[in-house]
Amino acid sequence: MLAFASVDLKEGMIETLIVPVCSDKAIHTDRTIAAIVKKAKKFKEFCGEKDEEVVFYKPIGTAVNRVILLGLGKSDAVDPETLRAMAGKAVKKCIRMKLDVVHLMAPAEQKIQLDYPLMIEALMEGLSLGNHLFDKYLQEKKHKPLKKAYLLVEADAAKKYGRLPSRIEAICAGTALARDWVSMPPNDKRPDQFANLILAKARKAKLTARIMQEKEMRQEGFGALLAVGAGSQNRPRMVVLEYKSKGAVKTVALVGKGVTFDSGGINLKPSTSMDDMKMDMSGAAAVAAALIAMATLKPKVHVVAAMPIVENMPSGSASRPGDIIKSYSGKSIEIGNTDAEGRLILADAMAFVSRKYKPQILIDLATLTGACVVALGEKIAGVFTDDDDLAEAIVTSGKKTHERCWRMPLPPDYKEQLKSDFADISNMGSTRWGGAITAALFLSEFVKDTRWAHIDIAGPAYAKKGNAYCPAGGTGFGVRLLCDLINKL
Ligand code: BES
Ligand code: ZN
Ligand code: ZN
Repeated sequence: MLAFASVDLKEGMIETLIVPVCSDKAIHTDRTIAAIVKKAKKFKEFCGEKDEEVVFYKPIGTAVNRVILLGLGKSDAVDPETLRAMAGKAVKKCIRMKLDVVHLMAPAEQKIQLDYPLMIEALMEGLSLGNHLFDKYLQEKKHKPLKKAYLLVEADAAKKYGRLPSRIEAICAGTALARDWVSMPPNDKRPDQFANLILAKARKAKLTARIMQEKEMRQEGFGALLAVGAGSQNRPRMVVLEYKSKGAVKTVALVGKGVTFDSGGINLKPSTSMDDMKMDMSGAAAVAAALIAMATLKPKVHVVAAMPIVENMPSGSASRPGDIIKSYSGKSIEIGNTDAEGRLILADAMAFVSRKYKPQILIDLATLTGACVVALGEKIAGVFTDDDDLAEAIVTSGKKTHERCWRMPLPPDYKEQLKSDFADISNMGSTRWGGAITAALFLSEFVKDTRWAHIDIAGPAYAKKGNAYCPAGGTGFGVRLLCDLINKL
């Protein structure tokens, strides 16, 4: 869908041209565009304030049918996220106008105080991400995504950054895939179905992929995962994906929480807390989609991903508060609360990848705690790790992709709260305070000497309301971050 174009506006026929404009300075060198912007500003129709827009039809001296000026605000306040959002908004507008193709004029190099490749990357991300719709369940599809979005740049830039469009497209397709999985209703993504959806996409991307069935999971000793799945007729699965890179020496393991619906189990959630609990597999979705994107991006590192997939339901066969189970690692766990199921399935998956693949780095993504949302709100993820370099790398990648992460503490003395009188550890803290921290400390008991970070995405994985480049529902949070991060590890 994405491509560069270099067109002479006087001659090249263009249906719709989007032109971002700053309020305080000219950011385009093209004379025709400069003249149009000047005219708009002169008539006080438009001054380039943020979110302002104005449309010109067939401006004289061009072969363009319509030019849409979009305001960016003051030039020194423009950051990559401003550009991503502007491009996303532009695409949404074109979709509403039932267009097939859009051209977006990139600001000229050095007119905005941003690294040029970063700027065009952000613009292309906005174009691609804004073009994603989730309408699979609508009888009447009101809108169609655009077929093509061109970023207008100088011919030498198009040549220099020629590989960018397909890379950005692969990454954004990963984000879209994760969004689709998260937004999908839980009756269509029972563990076996979700596992098969991942398998099909992974095989198509030529990743090594396999699904463990219940029998194998029992033999392998996934006691914690099976305990969480005990209440549902829809039996759990474990999906393992591998991306292998020739000559790579490092292995990074990714683990993603894949609860296809979290009712809370016997500790049933109150009804309003259950509303969006189809999103409790967002960690698995992000990790799987990132690996699928990596198959195209080809980073020079081995990556293995484990996704424990399960439905947390109450029933006569469900696990009870008070049950003691034996986890994959051998540690016994007392179930203090069946709604703290994420840490149980992650514990097994983390111990499994550590033992089987001996990774140098292990990162898990999980919609783990409501407490993390209380702490950081709905747009920022919590990062928990003792490794300063890893924390820094994650936070930096999150800044770049605007999937914001904030480092949280992991105080060892809080482990006290996870003591059980009867088992090696309890899955439930003894107080209700600091729940995101105790959850992370619980996980830390299942990694030995691997460098490890946990990212709690309970807030940003899902959005009740859409924004400039993401519709309501799954956000695909983490996919772009992981694709950026993997090159730095
Ligand atoms: N899936 C939830 C966490 C969650 C909450 C995700 C809100 C997204 C939005 C998780 O399994 C859970 O229920 N956690 C409990 C833990 C508690 C019982 C210790 C929580 O956060 O209340
Ligand atoms: Zn839960
Ligand atoms: Zn959960």
